[in-house]
Amino acid sequence: MTQDSHIKPNERRLFIKSYGCQMNVYDSGRMADVLGPHGFESVGGAEEADMIILNTCHIREKASEKVYSELGRLRALKDQRARAGKDTIIAVAGCVAQAEGEEIMARAPIVDMVFGPQTYHRLPEMVARVDQGETRVLDTDFPVEDKFDNLSAVGSPKNVAAFLTIQEGCDKFCTFCVVPYTRGAEFSRPLPRVLDEAQRLVAGGARELTLLGQNVNAYHGDNGKGGITGLGDLCRQLSEIEGLERIRYTTSHPRDMDDSLIEAHRDLPKLMPYLHLPIQSGSNTVLQAMNRQHDTKTYVELVERIRAARPDIALSSDFIVGFPGETDQDFEDTLALVREVTYAQAYSFKYSPRPGTPGADMETQVDEAVKSERLARLQSLLNEQQIAFNAACKGTRMSVLYEKPGRFEGQLIGRSPYLQSVHVEAPEHFIGTLEEVEIVDVKPNSLTGHRSGAAKEPAKATVHGA
Ligand code: SAH
Ligand code: SF4
Ligand code: F3S
Repeated sequence: MTQDSHIKPNERRLFIKSYGCQMNVYDSGRMADVLGPHGFESVGGAEEADMIILNTCHIREKASEKVYSELGRLRALKDQRARAGKDTIIAVAGCVAQAEGEEIMARAPIVDMVFGPQTYHRLPEMVARVDQGETRVLDTDFPVEDKFDNLSAVGSPKNVAAFLTIQEGCDKFCTFCVVPYTRGAEFSRPLPRVLDEAQRLVAGGARELTLLGQNVNAYHGDNGKGGITGLGDLCRQLSEIEGLERIRYTTSHPRDMDDSLIEAHRDLPKLMPYLHLPIQSGSNTVLQAMNRQHDTKTYVELVERIRAARPDIALSSDFIVGFPGETDQDFEDTLALVREVTYAQAYSFKYSPRPGTPGADMETQVDEAVKSERLARLQSLLNEQQIAFNAACKGTRMSVLYEKPGRFEGQLIGRSPYLQSVHVEAPEHFIGTLEEVEIVDVKPNSLTGHRSGAAKEPAKATVHGA
């Protein structure tokens, strides 16, 4: 297939592959936005691209290694294109770039550019340097200027559900985590900028916004009037935007869940009753060694307060098993905490020692086999809870935001308030609208909904509960 007929002479094709968290997905969109006016058109695959950016994740060893295997594949592609007389710029961005910039340059000679998450606004300048013949451009600074000044979402979102970064970086320094090193110090975008971007996204068709930050509930944005606005208040202001139907935020730290945010959950129907609130471990000894700055008691009390404010709220979490020093009893405490709190969904990982973090130097590393065994037990309990949560949805009515066509003719895929995928038979022009449906079937990872026969057009439902 050739698209050359509509490509202007100076236009190049850009392919960005995102790994890791949702912030990388958001950042990839911003990189495409910033390169668009410089003649780059986004395409869906590496084969046809003149520039390939890998937007990488460093959170666990496996995530990092993916980059090097992908670079191996891209070498063949770059050689093949070179034989056909075509140049290919290969770039590595994101958290591996930040953490291992020099190493990538040394290990992968095909890489032309390596740049960290705080430098994306400088991309056009970096590309110009490569165009002028520089072969190895490396930028892993934490610049003093605000990258967001040049990086808010400019294009219309292609998605009904859009991401919006409001906060980046982290000052918490959990002893297992690379994020404070790869993303830098905590930074909140000013409130007026966030509101502007939200307005633009909604005007472009977004009906749901997920506010992003590594520590999103630590948000404290300059309100432009000499004061500071927290996340609870930001949600209140976003709630006023007409056309915006749903608000979510991720990822929160238990220590930053303040009263104003809990009250926002009580008061704002648009704020979805689903909260990702990672605890990591159910053992206080381990939490302390992790430097999490909270214990299990404060976490459980917090959950009680949140549930009192918003009784239908469902919780999700992250867990790490096999952190250095974790005993069988510590692990049993994690299982007990999961039973006590009850989660609708959760992510769990084997501890992966990351170079440069305090955990990696601890002498009490846990055996791989023990980690695997604990992970299997934890995941089986979490799965049970997820299945039970989904099963309890059967027969209830839920609002669904239709996002895209399903696999079968006449079927749409939407999301429930609890981020479950819901398959519903509905016409394609319903995409972007909310409707209340009855949940008639339940699978481990998705639900099936039925529209009530009478409704021909979707009602603007704002019912959020199960
Ligand atoms: N900011 C979020 C977490 C970001 S990383 C928070 O504070 O909770 C996402 C998840 O990856 C973490 O919650 C943790 O469970 C997991 N993770 C981070 N570092 C890890 C490591 N070294 N090994 C295994 N899992 C890790
Ligand atoms: Fe990492 Fe902890 Fe910061 Fe989350 S709070 S990003 S886990 S250091
Ligand atoms: Fe990964 Fe960086 Fe996100 S390490 S999880 S891409 S902040």
